[in-house]
Amino acid sequence: MMNLPFFRPLNRPITNWRDQTIWIIGASSGIGAALAQALLQQGAQVILSARRLEQLQQVAADHPHADIVPFDVTDQNAWHHASQQLQTRHPSIDLVIFCAAKYQPERSWEVDANDAAATLKINVESVYHGLQAVLPQMLKRGSGGLAILASVAGYVGLPNASVYGPSKAALINLSELLYSDLHQKNINVYLVNPGFVRTELTDKNDFEMPALQTPEQAAEAILQGITHGDFEIHFPKRFTLGVKLLQMMPYRWRFALIRRFVVA
Ligand SMILES: NC(=O)c1ccc[n+]([C@@H]2O[C@H](COP(=O)([O-])OP(=O)(O)OC[C@H]3O[C@@H](n4cnc5c(N)ncnc54)[C@H](OP(=O)(O)O)[C@@H]3O)[C@@H](O)[C@H]2O)c1
Repeated sequence: MMNLPFFRPLNRPITNWRDQTIWIIGASSGIGAALAQALLQQGAQVILSARRLEQLQQVAADHPHADIVPFDVTDQNAWHHASQQLQTRHPSIDLVIFCAAKYQPERSWEVDANDAAATLKINVESVYHGLQAVLPQMLKRGSGGLAILASVAGYVGLPNASVYGPSKAALINLSELLYSDLHQKNINVYLVNPGFVRTELTDKNDFEMPALQTPEQAAEAILQGITHGDFEIHFPKRFTLGVKLLQMMPYRWRFALIRRFVVA
């Protein structure tokens, strides 16, 4: 049955992490750090990037297959420099995982436009810089993969995610079009939509987060999705399916439920 086109995985499954080289952008904490550690434990070559060198060194500690390339993702030249540097050390990067993000819980009337632009620069613009840095090589080789960490916050407009939500909606759209563009060129594209995960990012939330997961659980779900060849990797299902249902509802019902359960 798995061979019928309808049941075939949307991406080519990765079965052996040992022969994979993976570049994680935003590997100094949270989900990116947990992914780096899980992949290193499975024998993958992992390149860890983010701004905080000390944290990256802690995540990579004692792993002979770890390589650290610290830089700021908002700096286009830094992307260029990092990818040039890596071309000699790791001529064939199999997968780039985009995890870098910023989140500030705030209602729409609290948003400062300059802060919003700074968040969009990290959450969205940096992904375009990254694509420009890594895609030409992947296209030339005719292989590779891109995993983009969006969020269920991108499914529907939720108060408090005034800038973060729209940035994640943009990444969902971008991942979809990347898949359509790149699948025929043998490049895997994964859209990762986590629910709530306990990290530095969500430590800012002052409400009880439903179905909260650990970064290790998130990393496991993401690697499992990639192993299966899924396009959208969303978890935990008991939460994400509820938000998907909300997304499908007529606006009248959707707004009423948001008013009832989300807006304080
Ligand atoms: N936690 C959740 O509940 C949740 C839910 C849905 C989606 N997500 C998504 O999952 C991804 C990881 O989030 P997380 O929760 O693990 O957050 P986190 O612990 O705050 O990690 C964010 C990472 O991004 C890096 N980063 C931020 N700005 C950067 C910059 N200018 N240059 C380079 N690196 C930068 C940080 O490193 P430095 O500070 O060292 O630079 C850090 O490694 C994000 O895309 C987030 O939106 C998280």
